[in-house]
Amino acid sequence: MLENIHTLEQLQLGPLEEGSWLANKRVFVRVDFNVPRDKKTNAITDDARIRAALPTIQFLVDAGAKVILASHLGRPKGERDDDLSLESVGAKLAELTGYEVHVPEDCIGDAPKKVIHDLRVVAPGKRDDMAQVVLLENLRFHAGEKKNDEAFVKALGDLCDVYVNDAFGAMHRAHASVDGLPRSKKDRAAGKLVLRELEALGRLVDAPPKPFVAVLGGAKVSDKIDVIEALLGRCSAICIGGAMANTFLAAQGNNMQKSLVEEDKLPLARTLMEKARAKNVDLLLPVDLVCGAGLDATEATTVNVDRVPSGQLALDIGPKSVELFGKAFLGAKTMFWNGPMGLFESAPFASGTMGVAKAMSSAAGFTVVGGGDSAAAVRQAGDDIAKGFNHISTGGGASLELVEGKKLPGVEALRHKPLG
Ligand code: 3PG
Repeated sequence: MLENIHTLEQLQLGPLEEGSWLANKRVFVRVDFNVPRDKKTNAITDDARIRAALPTIQFLVDAGAKVILASHLGRPKGERDDDLSLESVGAKLAELTGYEVHVPEDCIGDAPKKVIHDLRVVAPGKRDDMAQVVLLENLRFHAGEKKNDEAFVKALGDLCDVYVNDAFGAMHRAHASVDGLPRSKKDRAAGKLVLRELEALGRLVDAPPKPFVAVLGGAKVSDKIDVIEALLGRCSAICIGGAMANTFLAAQGNNMQKSLVEEDKLPLARTLMEKARAKNVDLLLPVDLVCGAGLDATEATTVNVDRVPSGQLALDIGPKSVELFGKAFLGAKTMFWNGPMGLFESAPFASGTMGVAKAMSSAAGFTVVGGGDSAAAVRQAGDDIAKGFNHISTGGGASLELVEGKKLPGVEALRHKPLG
């Protein structure tokens, strides 16, 4: 997984006390500051992705580099959209670090060039809590970013001497700042977050110690087909919760009433159950469900899966299901969780997700949680529970693709040819 990928320490060439090769170099750091924000106020609701990039930023600032951070936010249509400006993210970064964070009005051209030119750097090894860094405006304000366009790669390349990727959550995108730009720079490396992610998630791909148990949740089976197929070849048990379990339960003949069921995926669910049987993988489905009258329901009823009340829908897995999944964790050496077990944002339907978080957090094996929602749920469950996990990935789609065994463009673009 990490072959021929350089680290920040390798870029620095030697101990900081003896100076740093990075001093005064313009270092472009691709980060994933695509943070969740409140729909009405745009306020950042979870700053985990910003915090996760801090060790890399701190390392480069201390080495005396000119740090140029770059990210996308949301999905603008290739032109400026003020609602998706990174200014509020810059303010959050300043609050978290104490640094002066400059956000030029564009990510390419004269505006960032001037700010980068004027940037004050610290002497290598002399920590400065008031250091200055640049955060470029949203890369996706230019269509060239998503198109991996040569001219846009060149415009970004003109701003920097060295490239670092610490944007694990975006590494599955073959975009200019993730793919074209690193390929154009001789001096390139992975940031500390990316290395941590690749090490942890890599353990789920390259001969994971068995028993290996996966828990998959979320809304749709269709989003998880590839990962289920891949995990059927590696896991001893796969626990399925969340709304995607409804489709499997319906395929078994249960009347799911108003629950979300992907009718067109019923044959697929049956095929996956057959494949699991043939491969001797336990495909564990919920045995009880917490139901409500609608997504805004405040009253919840717990029933066996064949007793969903008429006119109601399943919004969480029940306590017996949590116990069933928890038992599978007992002897497991490796565990991976992606996707919530229900509508955990709503208190009456949070117990299934919180219960799985608690059970996996206290399990003895190596535990990884990936995906925005499940990672947020683990943090919602509290510090003690979050600390019990070996790794909480900052990646959603990127962590799933890696676990599926796919090569991520951003990882491949960092590799150097082996010497000799
Ligand atoms: C994510 O949030 O998964 C990453 O930032 C990638 O965002 P995207 O799906 O808009 O490319």
